[in-house]
Amino acid sequence: MCVGFLIGTFPSLPLHAEEVRSESMLANTCAGCHGTLGASAGEVMPIIGGMDKGYLVEVLTDYKTGRRPSTIMGRIMQGYGDVVAAINGEAAPAPSYVNTCYSIIAPEHGISVAGVYRLEDGRIVDIPGAGGVSPADADARTRTLEQQFALDWFRNITSDMFT
Ligand code: HEC
Repeated sequence: MCVGFLIGTFPSLPLHAEEVRSESMLANTCAGCHGTLGASAGEVMPIIGGMDKGYLVEVLTDYKTGRRPSTIMGRIMQGYGDVVAAINGEAAPAPSYVNTCYSIIAPEHGISVAGVYRLEDGRIVDIPGAGGVSPADADARTRTLEQQFALDWFRNITSDMFT
C-alpha cells in the first residue's frame, strides 16, 4: 500500500510566504496523519485535537530536539517553522508542506518516507535535513509501530477525502 500525496494545499505560484501564513495552513499538514481536526480515526495514531496546549508545546519541542523518541515526528519537525510560536498565539510560521508515504513492505514491517518543503522566492523547495526514510536497521518494535501507523494514516486520509 502506498499512497503518496502532498498534505495541505499547493497554492498557485508565484506566492510569497507572507501571503499564505496562517494557522490553518499549518494545521492542515498535521491533519494528513492525525485526522481532520486532529480527531484520528485510527487505533494508534494519536488524537491531537483538543490536546492541552502546554503538553503540545512540550512534546513538539521534545520531538524537534530529539529528546523524545519517535518513528516520524522527529524527522518532520526538523522542517516545520516555529510551530510552538504559532500554538502560543504568536505569528504563524511560514508554511511547511509535508509529503508522506507509508508502505507495508512485509508482515509487521512498515516504513515511511517524508519530504518537508517551504516556499522560497515563490518556489517550493526541499528543506535539507528534514523528512527522509525510516532507518533500514529499525528494530522490530519500530517496524510494527510503523505498520500500525501506516494503516491509521490510510484510514485518516481516506476518511478525510471521502466523507
Ligand atoms: C507523517 C504523519 C504525521 C504528520 C504530518 C504529523 N504527525 Fe504528529 N505524530 C505522528 C506519529 C506517527 C506520532 C507518534 C510518534 C511517532 O512515532 O512519530 C505522532 C505524535 C504526535 C504527538 C504526540 C501525541 C501524544 O499523545 O503524545 C503530537 C502532539 C503530534 N504528533 C502533533 C503533530 C502536529 C501539531 C503536527 C503538525 C504540525 C503533526 N503532529 C504532524 C504522525 C504525524
